[in-house]
Amino acid sequence: MKFFVDTGDLDEIAKLNETGMLDGVTTNPSLIKKSGKEFIPLIKDICGIVRGPVSAEVAATDYETMIKEGRKLADIASNIAVKVPLTPAGLRVCKELSDDDVMVNVTLCFSANQALLAAKAGATFISPFIGRLDDIGLDGMELIGDIAQIYDNYGYDTQILAASIRHCAHVYMSAKVGADVATIPPKIIWQLFQHPLTDKGLDAFVADWAATGQSIL
Ligand code: G3P
Repeated sequence: MKFFVDTGDLDEIAKLNETGMLDGVTTNPSLIKKSGKEFIPLIKDICGIVRGPVSAEVAATDYETMIKEGRKLADIASNIAVKVPLTPAGLRVCKELSDDDVMVNVTLCFSANQALLAAKAGATFISPFIGRLDDIGLDGMELIGDIAQIYDNYGYDTQILAASIRHCAHVYMSAKVGADVATIPPKIIWQLFQHPLTDKGLDAFVADWAATGQSIL
């Protein structure tokens, strides 16, 4: 499973990139607002750090403006994935950019039918929002599983990008039901490394090694 980080925080991206676990980055207008940075220079900086796909979202909702914004964003770097909303205009932009070999991430997906439409439009990634479905009493994980089955039935190449991840269990559960990618907030990626028995075991190994008085180097 690929791990993307869902953030506009450049320092966090650089730190996570050093772990060797980071396969890409996703941003959205809310994360850009939170970063307090200028959008285009920030996206350029992110593309300078991370080699994998970097999602940059269009701001307009009408086809004519969205396609211009999408082409401008795609020109920033070869690893840009243009993010478009799951609307008729957004999917029209998706089809056009995909036909020109630009990566497209279709966002704000909340149903299997929407995911089917995105695949037909040639999306590189479909982003079902797990957490926001759970928030309203629905089952985000069931949606990921349904999309995986449908894409498998028809051999669609569109990658399932589990988004709106709120806790560690969302990550392994998405992997179990067939998501190709999880986009995860930085704090949760760091939590994935942690287990109290790892800390306890390491403390004991360090203490016992010190008691031997030996040195490897
Ligand atoms: O980037 C899209 C998605 O991951 C947003 O998550 O937490 O705002 O629902 P959230």
